[in-house]
Amino acid sequence: MSPKLIFIVLGLLLFSSCSSNTYDDVQENDNEQTPELVTYQEVRPILNSACVQCHSNPPQNGAPMSLETFENARDAVLTRGLLNSISIPDGDPGLMPLGGPRLPQNTIDLIFQWEEDGLLNN
Ligand code: HEC
Repeated sequence: MSPKLIFIVLGLLLFSSCSSNTYDDVQENDNEQTPELVTYQEVRPILNSACVQCHSNPPQNGAPMSLETFENARDAVLTRGLLNSISIPDGDPGLMPLGGPRLPQNTIDLIFQWEEDGLLNN
């Protein structure tokens, strides 16, 4: 083998061993889960089953307002202390649903999370 040929072969070997990074290495990881925001769509069934028999439109049994729509529910959180009304200890006056029992803690948490996430409709 001539010295010239050896250089060419070595050169080719060096060149081919320099594998370049592919785009796969720098692509964003699309599988990472972004946490879902709680929306009115998850809160509505809770209010429907625990509140709307009184907070209907028109309201029944002396309830002062409706909780039937997204706007009703959002306004009640913003201006009528809805979060407080569901957090009162069981048996204490002012607890909603009126007359108890208190909502399960996980549904109370969900309504609080709805408020933290910005009172979104959907
Ligand atoms: C059995 C009927 C009844 C049910 C069920 C009920 N409420 Fe009420 N609610 C009332 C009555 C009556 C009042 C007004 C008197 C009072 O505050 O105790 C009221 C008042 C409220 C108030 C205060 C409004 C204001 O401006 O002072 C909020 C907030 C409220 N309810 C939220 C709820 C929520 C949330 C639920 C369901 C988890 C619920 N209520 C279930 C009858 C009910």
